[in-house]
Amino acid sequence: MLFEPIKIKDLTIKNRIVMSSMCMYSSSDGFPTDWHKIHYGSRAAGGAGLIMSEAAAVEPRGRISPYDLGLWKDEHIAGLKNLVDICHDFGSKVGVQLAHAGRKAESYGPWERRGAETKGSTEAIAPSAIPFGQNWHTPNEMSVDDIENVKTSFLNAVKRAVKVGFDIIEIHAAHGYLLNQFLSPISNIREDSYGGSFENRQRLLLEIVKEAKNLIPNSTPLFVRLSCVDYVQGGVTIEDTVKIAKNLKDFGVDVIDCSSGGIAEEETREEFPCFQCSFAEKIKSETGVMTMAVGAITEYDQAENILKNKQADLVAFGRKFLRNPYFPTQWAKEKGIDFEVPLQYKRGWM
Ligand SMILES: Cc1cc2nc3c(=O)[nH]c(=O)nc-3n(C[C@H](O)[C@H](O)[C@H](O)COP(=O)(O)O)c2cc1C
Repeated sequence: MLFEPIKIKDLTIKNRIVMSSMCMYSSSDGFPTDWHKIHYGSRAAGGAGLIMSEAAAVEPRGRISPYDLGLWKDEHIAGLKNLVDICHDFGSKVGVQLAHAGRKAESYGPWERRGAETKGSTEAIAPSAIPFGQNWHTPNEMSVDDIENVKTSFLNAVKRAVKVGFDIIEIHAAHGYLLNQFLSPISNIREDSYGGSFENRQRLLLEIVKEAKNLIPNSTPLFVRLSCVDYVQGGVTIEDTVKIAKNLKDFGVDVIDCSSGGIAEEETREEFPCFQCSFAEKIKSETGVMTMAVGAITEYDQAENILKNKQADLVAFGRKFLRNPYFPTQWAKEKGIDFEVPLQYKRGWM
């Protein structure tokens, strides 16, 4: 099943293999660089059906690092269009992941040397003034105006993503970033209509999704990435996430991209093969929405079984793609599956 096409709305993806979103920390002022052309281009040449972009910031202070990709100004459109065109030439579809880091915004890149100074950016904003962890700056609690501005930033980024020509738009509401911070009681203790009750904590994400749907062509699928569990006492559980997923489905979301964790330093997350697949399965079976499985999936049989057992509709790979951009072609050839490779590389796969 891994190499069978899948149709989501009017979009046909040639196989179920997805490159998961992965920050490359190689942008300059949000613009893609030559690195991105090589990186995304080779995964497309390697046979990925769908390539999800790394987190693209909707505003500069929402960047995970100063080197994040961005879609906060119109000038970003042309470079991203070029990247999408490169991947389309190889037959891959491309999705953009729109993100805001909230209290996890950083003023350093991950491989920049730093001493003992406090982590995070002093400009970071969050639903409540609670730091991510011990040695982190306390974020600035957002006013209702700040919330409106962030919503506008997401929606403007959606409009730009449509202009770029992305095949899919994904809202990043996982990994402890801003929209996840609103969803979780660990990071959201607001007392207004955006905090407190479970319903209030979902409000910002649902408002963004509802308005985004009006800006996206009917044929373009909308994905949402969720952290299905917080792994923190008193945090979001899979039962909560099933309810959120149900609401997202009702608001027109096509696929829930099922990840987990990232909300606070004290989380107790353990990684093992397919450790997030049960979340994708539960959400799919209990809500009927399509799901994407991700997390420590590295073997062909694992991926096949996820699809055969109806745990998910798409299988995403992160670090495996960093190690080998050509594993889709390699798997197809090993299994005797008819598979298009770029003409220039044909002699390497005969
Ligand atoms: C270098 C790197 C950067 C990542 N950046 C993002 C990101 O921008 N957005 C996101 O949702 N997940 C990000 N992730 C998480 C991956 O998308 C994926 O969920 C995770 O690596 C688990 O999948 P894997 O076991 O196949 O690597 C990143 C992971 C890595 C290794």
